[in-house]
Amino acid sequence: MTGKREPIHGQWSGRLAFILAATGSAVGLGNIWKFPYIAGENGGGAFVLVYLVCIAVIGIPIMMAEVMLGRRGRRSPINTMRVLAAEEHAGAYWQWLGWAGVIAGFLILSYYSVIAGWAVAYVFRAGSGLFTGQTADGVQSIFNNLVSEPERLLAWHTLFMVMTMAVVARGVRSGLERAVRLMMPSLFLILLVLLGYAWNSGAFEQGIHFLFHPDFSKITGNGVLIAMGHAFFTLSLGMGAIMVYGSYLPARISIAKTTLVVSLADTAVALMAGMAIFPIVFANGLEPGSGPGLIFQTLPIAFGHMPYGAFFGMLFFVLLVFAAWSSSISLIEPAVAWLVENRGMKRVSASMLAGVVTWLFGLLTVFSFNIWSDFRPLSFIPVFRDSTIFDLLDYLTANVMLPLGGLLIAVFAAWLMSRDSSVDELGMGDGFFYRVWRFLVRYITPVAVSIVFLRAIGIV
Ligand code: PHE
Repeated sequence: MTGKREPIHGQWSGRLAFILAATGSAVGLGNIWKFPYIAGENGGGAFVLVYLVCIAVIGIPIMMAEVMLGRRGRRSPINTMRVLAAEEHAGAYWQWLGWAGVIAGFLILSYYSVIAGWAVAYVFRAGSGLFTGQTADGVQSIFNNLVSEPERLLAWHTLFMVMTMAVVARGVRSGLERAVRLMMPSLFLILLVLLGYAWNSGAFEQGIHFLFHPDFSKITGNGVLIAMGHAFFTLSLGMGAIMVYGSYLPARISIAKTTLVVSLADTAVALMAGMAIFPIVFANGLEPGSGPGLIFQTLPIAFGHMPYGAFFGMLFFVLLVFAAWSSSISLIEPAVAWLVENRGMKRVSASMLAGVVTWLFGLLTVFSFNIWSDFRPLSFIPVFRDSTIFDLLDYLTANVMLPLGGLLIAVFAAWLMSRDSSVDELGMGDGFFYRVWRFLVRYITPVAVSIVFLRAIGIV
């Protein structure tokens, strides 16, 4: 069957709306909170280089594949995979790929929401002038005070989950599109302000050197896996978020061009965040590898010392919350779309159900930073010796589930789907660019992901 399907849940108003929504999904805590701290933990330059290579040769082609599958199936990822598998005469078990994505989405959102809650808390801390004139030690103790109290973290996590489900309940068009339109350019601007501060911090060169000078002796097989996992995480790939957004994409809009814009914007934001943060880290004698608290322990120092710092600080955290918000809704959309399609639920009740489940899982992360901070469930495995439950959740989803999901998406799009179907849906003919894409998803992605996995486990 090649006739085009109609979308069930509505469509984006056009090309720009899709770009904004997909950029909203891609740009989030992954770029500003996670990228700097994992780059710091994994030695800087070499890690960043591996990450950039993964974005280019794995991330962008997979993003094209995911959008393509979504638009062809026009349903939640579970049903899209079921319908496309039937159409391409592949096994019905392909719908399990959709299920795996839904589970990954729940797990990721469960901790994502807790960290986004920190950002909400920091809006008020920055706005009240709490950071003015603070030293690195002062800023650190403000952070420790926040995360050491489970009730507080729980309250902020709850607030962020309510915000997320409120938007999801309203559907893809209203609210979301408009918010993202304003917020993305503002985020860019404020990152420029921070870069300006970092430039004058006295350690700009040291920060840049750390980020862009690859020293391969500093990266391990596990570090390579983390860099690759992050390429999936930051582009929202491998779990159906971009697939479900693709299912709302009007026909005839170029998938290749839009995907390229989204990936470039995402990468630019991450690099800008890194270039703003590391100079501050070095100028204040902080540890680049200090973990998930890194931006919350560095940027407030900058806000505490720049003119109008309380204003800029508040603005920054407001934008960070928006960036996280526009990502969190895409994490849960595959599940909600499925509940609406298959359980006949209204969007509002589907959102509430999904939200409650995610909120409950979030407790694991809330407690990982205080009452369970010494609990290391897998300490008998060397790489997980120091990992809390939060660390393990993050590792399992970003470094295992997303790359595996991406691998299977690549296999389906390039091996099981007929050449005619993909030429038809991508709509860029079957010339040079199509062939490069197909070569990358057919050979490079599956081989690269497999090798990185096997190396990290120690088999290769
Ligand atoms: N890309 C988002 C970020 O970088 C996180 C995300 C992952 C969103 C997977 C959707 C799916 O913050």
